[in-house]
Amino acid sequence: MAEIAVIGCGQAGLVVATAFASKGHHVTGIDLDRRKIEACRMGVAPIDEPGLDELLTQGLASGRLTFLDQYPEYPERIPAEFVFIAVGTPTSPSGASDLHALKSAITRMAPALRDDAIVVNKSTVPVGTCDEMVRLLRRSGAPKATVVSNPEFLQEGDAIHNFIEPDRIVLGSNDPDSLERVAGLYEDFGATVVQCDVRTAEMIKYASNAFLAMKVSFINEMASICEVLGADVSGVAHGMGMDRRIGAQFLRAGIGWGGSCFPKDVSALEYAASLHGVRAQLLRGVQETNRDQRRQVLRKLRGVLGRLETARVVVLGASFKPNTSDVRESPALEVASLLRLGGAEVRVVDPHVVPESVPAQFPYLDVTGDLMAAAQDADALVLATEWPEFIDLPLEDLAGVMRRPLIVDGRNVLDDRAVRAAGFIYRCIGRPNAEGGGVTLPEDRADERLDGRITDWPTVERAERADRERIPSRNGRQAAALASD
Ligand code: UDX
Repeated sequence: MAEIAVIGCGQAGLVVATAFASKGHHVTGIDLDRRKIEACRMGVAPIDEPGLDELLTQGLASGRLTFLDQYPEYPERIPAEFVFIAVGTPTSPSGASDLHALKSAITRMAPALRDDAIVVNKSTVPVGTCDEMVRLLRRSGAPKATVVSNPEFLQEGDAIHNFIEPDRIVLGSNDPDSLERVAGLYEDFGATVVQCDVRTAEMIKYASNAFLAMKVSFINEMASICEVLGADVSGVAHGMGMDRRIGAQFLRAGIGWGGSCFPKDVSALEYAASLHGVRAQLLRGVQETNRDQRRQVLRKLRGVLGRLETARVVVLGASFKPNTSDVRESPALEVASLLRLGGAEVRVVDPHVVPESVPAQFPYLDVTGDLMAAAQDADALVLATEWPEFIDLPLEDLAGVMRRPLIVDGRNVLDDRAVRAAGFIYRCIGRPNAEGGGVTLPEDRADERLDGRITDWPTVERAERADRERIPSRNGRQAAALASD
């Protein structure tokens, strides 16, 4: 078994540390955030990741996992042959990656490294950074240090599974001996180890995330086209995904992607390309399509309510996706913010997110865990994060307390028939027929369309106009008329 250190006990670092300890290695977690280290020492994971608490307590109980809140002072050494770095590399205002935490970790750890230590980089860094890390290590007191790029592909909410059973392990270095030694760490993972040069490894990370983000933006663009052509994007995604070359994952249309990685990584890759004179117009389009997706919700609401000013809207979800309380770059919060800026009165409901964790840029958002209280006299619900409790809503109860029975399903996860049967108007993304507008031409006129004589194919807007005329407020609402919709 090996001696391992992990610098940075955050979202990725803690998973790496506890997982390697569970495989029998001796692991030292190092982080300068004392509160974080105190929590780890008490077996309470400072990040919200299913299964992490169990791995943490198991590692502590076995004595194979310890934590330090400072670097050993020379002549003390970090007792590890493999020193993983998993510190944050956020995006700076210019669009470049902020590498301050990485450089600080390098200069602090260098004097305390063993001569045979290999630094293994897990942080997502611009291509070429590992080469700089070698130079900085050697200038900072570790003249023999080498660096291996080992990008992580951990999805929040499924990170432990992703680490223990990876699709592949990527190792990049210009030092064959270091590559072989790090590959030995992963021998019992049973996954293919892709060995390549260091820059290729760094690029695999960016290209993988950019491609996944592009897949989502692609299906969202298809959703917009489906809306005007009367097709169903969920059916399109299903039919596409059967093709092994395409694959079914990351084809769920909705309000788009967020989180701490996709936005940062796509932006950093485009920035790096532009620095070298390459116009990454596809990456630009991927980001623009994603930004526009949030506005689909406002379009749907205006289509039924007519206007947003003074409308009371409840946004279901604050986290950027289910199974995490992480609200970084959350599409749900961006939708809530746009609604607020559009003049609506907005309440955000997410039982898994504490209001204090909502970023400072959204100080005016009222975040609560009480769905029924928030829905009181509301004009619309917007499903923005597909938590299980939002997929299985108490529809009849909600219809009874809301001023208008309208749901915009921003993740296409609700049963449109059940929603309408409960008296709601249902809107979603890229599924015009599911919206009950039935916007298809009567059979006897379909051929006129084919001849090009009909250009204004009835679209969702027409159905929305019809709904607007049909939907009085709760006081005069004909629930029966709605239910028959
Ligand atoms: C991502 C990558 O998947 C992971 O490999 C990398 O290491 C870190 O970034 P994560 O940020 O946890 O992981 O989220 P992910 O599960 O990939 O979802 C990203 C975003 O795309 C979320 O906002 C999600 O809601 C959205 N998404 C995903 C869709 O809108 N549709 C989909 O079909 C899939």
